[in-house]
Amino acid sequence: MHRIELLLTFLMFMFTSTSETCTLRFNITAVRGEPFYLKYCSLAPEPKNETAAVRWYKSSGSHGRIELNSSSFPRISLYDHVLEFWPVELEDSGSYFFHMGNNTREWKLNVIGKSKHRCFAEKLLISKPVEVQKSLRVKCINTHYEKLANRTSLYKNCQEIENNKNAVLQKNAEFEDQGYYTCVYFIPHNGKLFHVTKTFNITIVGDRSKITPVLLGPKLNYVKVELGKDVKLNCSALANEKDAFYWNVWEENGKEPNVHEENVTRIRTPDGKLYASRILRIENINEKNLNFSYNCSVASEGGTDIISFVLLKKEGMVDIPGYVFTRGMIVAVLISVVVVCLVIMGVIYRVDLVLFYRHFMGKDETLTDGKAYDAFVSYLKECGPENGEEHTFAVEILPEVLEKHFGYKLCIFERDVVPGGAVVDEIHSLIEKSRRLIIVLSKSYMSNEVRYELESGLHEALVERKIKVILIEFTPVRDFMFFPQSLQLLKSHRVLKWNADKPPSYNSRFWKNLLYLMPAKTVKPYGAESEVLPVLSRS
Ligand SMILES: *[C@@H]1O[C@H](CO)[C@@H](O)[C@H](O)[C@H]1NC(C)=O
Ligand SMILES: *[C@@H]1O[C@H](CO)[C@@H](O)[C@H](O)[C@H]1NC(C)=O
Ligand SMILES: *[C@@H]1O[C@H](CO)[C@@H](O)[C@H](O)[C@H]1NC(C)=O
Ligand SMILES: *[C@@H]1O[C@H](CO)[C@@H](O)[C@H](O)[C@H]1NC(C)=O
Ligand SMILES: *[C@@H]1O[C@H](CO)[C@@H](O)[C@H](O)[C@H]1NC(C)=O
Ligand SMILES: *[C@@H]1O[C@H](CO)[C@@H](O)[C@H](O)[C@H]1NC(C)=O
Ligand SMILES: *[C@@H]1O[C@H](CO)[C@@H](O)[C@H](O)[C@H]1NC(C)=O
Ligand SMILES: *[C@@H]1O[C@H](CO)[C@@H](O)[C@H](O)[C@H]1NC(C)=O
Ligand SMILES: *[C@@H]1O[C@H](CO)[C@@H](O)[C@H](O)[C@H]1NC(C)=O
Ligand SMILES: *[C@@H]1O[C@H](CO)[C@@H](O)[C@H](O)[C@H]1NC(C)=O
Repeated sequence: MHRIELLLTFLMFMFTSTSETCTLRFNITAVRGEPFYLKYCSLAPEPKNETAAVRWYKSSGSHGRIELNSSSFPRISLYDHVLEFWPVELEDSGSYFFHMGNNTREWKLNVIGKSKHRCFAEKLLISKPVEVQKSLRVKCINTHYEKLANRTSLYKNCQEIENNKNAVLQKNAEFEDQGYYTCVYFIPHNGKLFHVTKTFNITIVGDRSKITPVLLGPKLNYVKVELGKDVKLNCSALANEKDAFYWNVWEENGKEPNVHEENVTRIRTPDGKLYASRILRIENINEKNLNFSYNCSVASEGGTDIISFVLLKKEGMVDIPGYVFTRGMIVAVLISVVVVCLVIMGVIYRVDLVLFYRHFMGKDETLTDGKAYDAFVSYLKECGPENGEEHTFAVEILPEVLEKHFGYKLCIFERDVVPGGAVVDEIHSLIEKSRRLIIVLSKSYMSNEVRYELESGLHEALVERKIKVILIEFTPVRDFMFFPQSLQLLKSHRVLKWNADKPPSYNSRFWKNLLYLMPAKTVKPYGAESEVLPVLSRS
């Protein structure tokens, strides 16, 4: 008993261990550059004639049948019933024959190269469709080479899968798992390292179980539209791959020319559900399209589902035709341009606008401040030959225009200050009683006498902010080397330039600017009749 059992086990072992690695197919394809083998085994365990000699032959093309032996074919090794190639090459294609006593066997070997830019041969792929969410298992098994390999790796799309132990992939299939999985055995042989590969073409397929298709959304949909516009009705379904999915767009008297049914788009979610959607495009909507029921259907053996879309005219909204909109835009642009122009004009004609406003509103700043003079005029008092014009300007032209014509009250030292007394105190109090300090600047202005007025006035203006300074440049200021720093702090619009060569009229920019800088006052000029502007007597 014991012996028989042992024998049976041995036979079983022999059978399983050999049958797995036997080369049973007639037509064999091998990849060049890789180790390859042919193994003979008879399926029926018949009594073996151990002494029977094994012979291998090859025949290819014009060459006759030649016997193979390791000594004349260095890439070939023969043992037991196995013929091994280290490695197999393109010229090894041909017919191979195995002879052992009365037993013979033939194979037809076709050696091919690997696909371009790929780590496998496309013809040798093992296709394996896997249903999504089902178990995906890629395991590298090769009973013949496994025991020779010192390493086995698993590659996906020719990239080694990282952290992959034992070259096994086991997971729930998702669509992104689709790809080419290659088992690579690294086999050292006679001091060389060989690769044996086996590649699976794994495709992830959708759920094969049929569902009853359903359309998404309410059964009846009202869509507000405007006549003349286009609309797209989107019908979506949870459906099977092959389900019929369509719009009923036919009317009794034929298809409306402005209604178009677009193609179905199908999207598979990672969990294997299939969503289909189909658009019905209605162009240039007319009255006939309203109140009509556009039905979308999906149908399979499992059942049918229909939803309806009805177009309604948009109520309560006045249609704005395109041309009205365009006109509106043009008007808006024009208004903005006008506003910008007005702002620019306002900046340019600021002085005139302010003067007009003062006149129009009857504005008067002088009533409540308790000051006696509208301006204190500071100028060079000595009337010498080189500064005669300036003197004339200060004591004649200024009062003529500002007092007689525009009704201001000036304080002019020569005219208004009683001789004698403490001049310095007097000047100080006069400046305090004035609303503006008009400084008539010229080359010889900076004499000791006026310097005090200047400094006192600037102190009031810049430190105490009681008085505003108006500078009239009689000759250009840049000539003055010894000019006080504080004067340069004056804002440039408070500096007026007098052009003695062109005596300005009352309406000139010079006087307007001066009036603008003067306090607002409503006093009517008492010489309203057009007077002749005094002209500088040129000496
Ligand atoms: C082997 O392939 C050839 C063509 O290449 C074909 O004619 C033959 O029938 C095939 N034999 C078998 C057993 O598949
Ligand atoms: C075994 O093989 C030898 C040599 O090929 C042959 O002479 C002998 O008859 C064979 N025996 C059997 C039982 O087939
Ligand atoms: C090997 O085969 C070749 C021809 O195929 C033959 O010439 C040679 O003698 C053979 N050598 C051995 C050792 O059998
Ligand atoms: C097997 O071979 C022997 C000689 O080796 C021969 O006598 C016998 O007829 C052969 N048997 C068959 C079935 O061909
Ligand atoms: C496998 O064998 C080759 C050649 O002998 C050697 O270079 C390589 O380091 C070995 N790899 C491992 C993982 O043992
Ligand atoms: C892999 O399998 C898919 C699905 O069967 C097929 O479409 C594709 O062509 C195959 N790839 C190659 C390289 O044969
Ligand atoms: C239609 O609706 C489906 C589902 O709501 C959406 O996935 C699809 O992108 C839509 N199609 C268009 C063209 O808007
Ligand atoms: C719809 O499908 C047809 C046939 O498959 C194709 O000829 C046509 O170009 C497709 N239309 C669009 C808009 O994709
Ligand atoms: C469309 O339907 C509305 C109410 O459902 C109805 O008042 C209107 O008269 C209908 N219009 C047409 C053209 O049938
Ligand atoms: C759409 O369905 C409604 C009822 O669901 C039906 O009255 C109408 O005739 C259908 N329209 C078309 C074009 O089939």
